[in-house]
Amino acid sequence: MTTRVIGTGSSIPDRNVTNDELAKVMDTSDEWICSRTGIRSRNIAVEETTTSMAAKAARKAVEKSGITPEEIDLIIVGTVSSDMYYPSTACLVQAELGAVNAVAFDLAAGCSGFLFALNTAHSYLSSGMAKCALVIGAETLSKMMDWSDRSTCVLFGDGAGAAVVKADTVGIRSVVAHSDGSGGDVLTCENRVTRNLLVQREQQFSYTQMAGQEVFKFAVKMVPKCIQEVLDKGGLTVEDVDYFLLHQANKRIIESVAKRLKVSLDKFPMNIECHGNTSAASIPILLDELVEQGRFKKGDIIVMSGFGAGLTWGATLLEW
Ligand code: COA
Repeated sequence: MTTRVIGTGSSIPDRNVTNDELAKVMDTSDEWICSRTGIRSRNIAVEETTTSMAAKAARKAVEKSGITPEEIDLIIVGTVSSDMYYPSTACLVQAELGAVNAVAFDLAAGCSGFLFALNTAHSYLSSGMAKCALVIGAETLSKMMDWSDRSTCVLFGDGAGAAVVKADTVGIRSVVAHSDGSGGDVLTCENRVTRNLLVQREQQFSYTQMAGQEVFKFAVKMVPKCIQEVLDKGGLTVEDVDYFLLHQANKRIIESVAKRLKVSLDKFPMNIECHGNTSAASIPILLDELVEQGRFKKGDIIVMSGFGAGLTWGATLLEW
């Protein structure tokens, strides 16, 4: 048995913020942001929360899959921007949906969060520990940005994407996942405060800190490698793949991966132009948009690959 995606959903905040709007409040320009990243606008949460977007995306995915919430026996939310330390976003979503039979927990793997959650759900389903899982990537990174750091804050947006997956004979063919904690200092966000009986301390770097060029180099080196690895494991080649769904961090990273794999950029659908980098939400939002556009047909071979804080990176090979 393997794991098949049977329904997808997504949710983004109502408020769209263009590069031109950012240029009114910081020293930047549409030309700089767009030429370096491919981003023209992003959506930023005002009333929305990580939980509310996760629940909205999940509800859509459940509706489209034709299952009832009671059938879900596993909920995993990939997030690094939950609204509360506890309960987890997954438990809050469970309550919203009435998925009373599910075990629910969050998984923190930076922008790789959705893929790591999907791979974990795949393990549960393959081993028979679960039969039907809800996998979500949901983030409100806008609340964790230093809005005076123009090199980082312009890149990110908020949103959530979800997929219902079920045990089936066709679906995921192979997965790979990697971490390198020794390189984690290139993308960090410390806890805000340490406050106990003995210590009262505001952390120095309580907003996202990023060494952009180091992250860029890591991504263009490791993503093609892990795509090759997941294909080798699944017994396929890059020529067999119909779509590569990459984490939407930077258009130039995606172009570089396509070039290194010697694959046409046409096979790399993108939505970074209007959403920016939504971290763990980027792959499931893209997946849902492509499903809505009717882009996939039965038998299509899809590779998803993500990378992010940790450092973490991975890939999933599946047959649609
Ligand atoms: N607007 C205008 N100028 C900006 C700017 C902005 N928003 N941000 C930085 N600059 C300036 C810098 O101050 C620097 O100016 P200087 O030469 O006078 O010092 C110049 O632009 C070049 O900065 P640099 O950091 O070298 O740019 P870059 O070409 O490396 O692009 C990133 C920066 C962040 C776009 C790029 O490194 C990147 O995309 N990295 C990957 C980040 C990523 O994907 N993170 C998420 C991973 S999950």
